Amino acid sequence: MALFAKKEVTPPVAPEQLPVHVGFIMDGNGRWAKKRGMPRGFGHIAGGKTYQKILSYCRDIGIKYASFYVFSTENWSRSQEEIQGIYKLMRQYLDDVQSHLAEGVRWIIVGDKTAFPADICERMKKLEEDSKDNTELVALMCCNYGGRNELMHSAREIAALVKAGKLEPEDITEQTLADHLYTAGIPDVDLVIRPSGELRLSNFLIWQCAYAEYYFTNILWPDFTTEDLDKALIDYAGRGRRFGGAE
Ligand code: FPP
Repeated sequence: MALFAKKEVTPPVAPEQLPVHVGFIMDGNGRWAKKRGMPRGFGHIAGGKTYQKILSYCRDIGIKYASFYVFSTENWSRSQEEIQGIYKLMRQYLDDVQSHLAEGVRWIIVGDKTAFPADICERMKKLEEDSKDNTELVALMCCNYGGRNELMHSAREIAALVKAGKLEPEDITEQTLADHLYTAGIPDVDLVIRPSGELRLSNFLIWQCAYAEYYFTNILWPDFTTEDLDKALIDYAGRGRRFGGAE
């Protein structure tokens, strides 16, 4: 499981109608496995394969930023067996993609990676460093990520600057907050796709999704295909985005 080789693919809509940044809430792995009488980890393995296909496809059609909710700050409450299974997938993935660095994807880990075992944290840092000059697609992997936790993190950094006398409270703007998020410098999310029939954001990039469009489908993430993504992109292209303004 890593990344497919780059190929030119015509997007389902005109390139200028594509969202710049798409977020994926990869939900439904557990239910997918349960339906097959298999342990939850089986669903995550299948979900990982979908991730690989979708990430490669986003790059091939010209999407510039794709975020994936891999592990939330709330997922620590899952069983040790499930968490260890996800660690195993992460290790395997982080090793595999090292041989695909020439294919143009830059990886950024969004979230506090220090909570993962040291060897995973090191692999994450190495991948970020080794892929930092790639420009085809930026893949944001949200790992130990929670939107509220991210805002708290940003507030703490800003408070430290105020305490050190480097920033006046009245000079704090929306941009100041954005500059201290894990996603500093990354454009806001345009389109959030959540499969599996759940209609919520679940603490995913809450600041960055303030003006995002939402696309929900009942398909479980392991069954989500590039054709399903095309449908979401066509739907998105037909929406009128006003960002709070009038027509
Ligand atoms: C949510 O489905 C999914 C997760 C918490 C894990 C997502 C992880 C992957 C898709 C593996 C990708 C791994 C790498 C390294 C890229 P759920 O388990 O909550 O499903 P359920 O709601 O049906 O129980």
